[in-house]
Amino acid sequence: MAQIFSRSADRRLRILAGPIILCAIAGIVGLKWYVKNQEEKIGLVVAQPIEFSHRQHIENTELICADCHRGAHDGPQALLPGKSICLECHDDLFRGTPKLQPLHEAKAKGLAINWKPVSKLPEFVHFHHGVHFEANVECSNCHGDVSKMESVSRAKPLTMDFCIDCHRESQSGENFSTKQAVSWQRDLTDCSVCHY
Ligand code: HEC
Ligand code: HEC
Ligand code: HEC
Ligand code: HEC
Ligand code: HEC
Repeated sequence: MAQIFSRSADRRLRILAGPIILCAIAGIVGLKWYVKNQEEKIGLVVAQPIEFSHRQHIENTELICADCHRGAHDGPQALLPGKSICLECHDDLFRGTPKLQPLHEAKAKGLAINWKPVSKLPEFVHFHHGVHFEANVECSNCHGDVSKMESVSRAKPLTMDFCIDCHRESQSGENFSTKQAVSWQRDLTDCSVCHY
């Protein structure tokens, strides 16, 4: 059979074939790992400085989400609560319980409680809680039913597809209203909505 490549080029190709195939395999494995990693984050529970139960507080107090998460209804970010909110009740209530010792220690030392986030987007993605609240998107659409959780765990993947799927449905009027988007004549699937 006629040789297509010169002898030396042929040898170089053979030498390169191994690494190229290895790279391709590594790429596929990497991609699978990434997708799996995103899925695995579902159910992810993060250890917190105080064992805090949402279920207990939603069932037994009058508190609404935004009492502890300022900004959730009107700001870009939903903040995690400072110790003063907890102390409004727990300065007295259950004062002796070991579970609340980190709270009383933080108060005595003037330190903050370092709650750890469960949901986190990369820096290059823009998100705004208030806009979603105005459009009647429920917390549970993105966080699951936190009011029933003993410990908060990741309920949704928070991937780009997850965001865009709902934006597409919202535009076609299937689930949510898009007041601002309509008045600004904005396509909610446009890259610049979340990346700018
Ligand atoms: C008494 C205060 C309090 C109330 C009320 C409260 N939370 Fe929280 N929330 C916390 C604290 C403290 C944390 C951080 C520790 C933890 O994750 O359990 C937290 C964490 C969260 C997180 C995890 C944040 C992340 O990074 O993903 C979500 C989501 C959340 N809350 C949603 C809600 C929703 C929805 C409601 C209303 C149904 C609500 N919370 C009511 C105190 C509160
Ligand atoms: C409006 C009052 C109120 C506020 C504010 C409040 N709690 Fe509570 N907390 C309660 C009540 C009521 C219970 C008991 C619920 C029950 O009976 O199961 C409780 C129970 C607890 C317990 C369990 C105590 C035990 O030994 O079982 C912990 C821990 C706790 N709260 C932490 C917090 C933290 C942390 C914050 C601030 C982010 C906070 N609470 C804010 C009212 C409050
Ligand atoms: C459309 C989806 C969506 C809805 C609806 C939504 N959130 Fe979030 N939430 C997110 C995303 C995404 C993040 C992570 C933001 C980031 O990393 O910039 C987040 C973060 C949070 C955090 C963690 C903040 C921190 O500092 O770590 C809390 C608390 C929270 N949300 C509470 C709420 C509450 C309460 C509601 C309902 C009033 C709500 N969220 C509605 C998507 C949503
Ligand atoms: C369950 C539905 C739903 C999900 C999930 C969702 N969104 Fe939205 N989002 C909306 C709706 C509806 C609007 C339009 C509000 C309006 O225009 O009135 C919106 C608007 C926005 C806007 C403001 C657009 C503008 O210019 O006014 C940003 C930014 C945004 N979403 C980012 C995200 C990101 C990032 C995620 C994923 C982490 C996400 N959204 C997930 C329903 C959703
Ligand atoms: C509704 C919000 C939204 C829109 C619209 C959107 N993205 Fe994203 N994008 C995200 C989120 C959220 C992530 C982070 C996903 C993650 O961490 O898994 C992301 C991640 C990315 C990444 C990083 C790749 C990666 O896998 O981490 C690139 C590149 C990107 N987007 C490009 C685009 C382009 C191009 C468009 C327009 C065709 C677009 N995005 C539209 C929300 C959005």
